[in-house]
Amino acid sequence: MATTDTESKTTDQATFAGDVEATVDTQVVTVERNPEGYLGFKLGEFEFSRDDYFVYINWPTGSHVMSADTFLKALQRDVAWEFFYGIVNFDGVIGTVNHYGDVDLFAGRYNDGWRKAELDHLENFPTAHIKATFEAMLDDWTNEGFDPFASPDETGTAFGPKNGSNKAAITRHRVTAQRMVGVPGDEGLRSDDTGHLVNRHFLDVPQDEPEIHAEPGFEGDVAAFNLFAYLSRSDVTWNPSVVAACKDSLACPTTEEYILPIIHGNDRVEWFVQLSDKIIWDVEDRDTGTVRAKVVMKAGDVCAMPADIRHQGYSPKRSMLLVWENADSELPALISSGKLPNYPVDL
Ligand code: PHB
Ligand code: FE
Repeated sequence: MATTDTESKTTDQATFAGDVEATVDTQVVTVERNPEGYLGFKLGEFEFSRDDYFVYINWPTGSHVMSADTFLKALQRDVAWEFFYGIVNFDGVIGTVNHYGDVDLFAGRYNDGWRKAELDHLENFPTAHIKATFEAMLDDWTNEGFDPFASPDETGTAFGPKNGSNKAAITRHRVTAQRMVGVPGDEGLRSDDTGHLVNRHFLDVPQDEPEIHAEPGFEGDVAAFNLFAYLSRSDVTWNPSVVAACKDSLACPTTEEYILPIIHGNDRVEWFVQLSDKIIWDVEDRDTGTVRAKVVMKAGDVCAMPADIRHQGYSPKRSMLLVWENADSELPALISSGKLPNYPVDL
């Protein structure tokens, strides 16, 4: 796409940004539509454009190209997760660092080659600003029939010239239980009636629910649900949901298939419990990308990802994974200052 420097806030763009927050902070800067029909976007000195197959990212000292489907799947998660914990690498070059209030957008910052050549680039934005731009990009670049959260087998194509949109898929409700799924007033259970059908790979998962016999007066405080049945009905992949919370301890199970579309760089320890099937994890040094480990997790396996690594998972078949997060906001500083170790337990 010829990134002409004609900046324009198109009407639909202005409306989208306005829906988010009508302040200067969230101003989305677009470049006129290219022959393939897609808008371009500017964020600080970064420029983003896409054509039928690829997304192009330019910054003052370099440029990068990614497959459009890989890019959109990563972008979808970065937006839906409010930039997640720590670093969301879209690949080995592009990504974001969450500082919980503002966000770094970087190119080559966590890549030894780009760093040594001194061609990496990083800019910081208020969360509302980068989020509005990313949401507008995701909306404009996601075609009808493409669902960035779905497995490759369960979605149409991301490729081709601009063809409609898929707002329902990209603005899905994110499950964030305050106490637990199934507690009155909290996130609900999934069923055929809520539109959550049992996934094709989980047809053998029993769907019975536990019986609850609460003492009179405790009906609102005693709850139980079948987590396997709940997960068997997930229509998305690589999208942890908070299904139970106890202070900062968040149980975030998810169903996985194909490849985690981001490479997650930790700012704290996180635990994985493989609930079914198998995931292969590539584990690299968080800052350089140097290979550290390959972890093969089979049903029943438990592991802790240290706070100084990044990881990407491969799930050959749809599988169930419990991600256990500690949301304590003091952890990143305690770990980066050396007051807490990068690993969770001494054995
Ligand atoms: C992770 O980065 O730890 C992660 C993200 C999404 C998942 C699973 C794990 O679905
Ligand atoms: Fe992670």
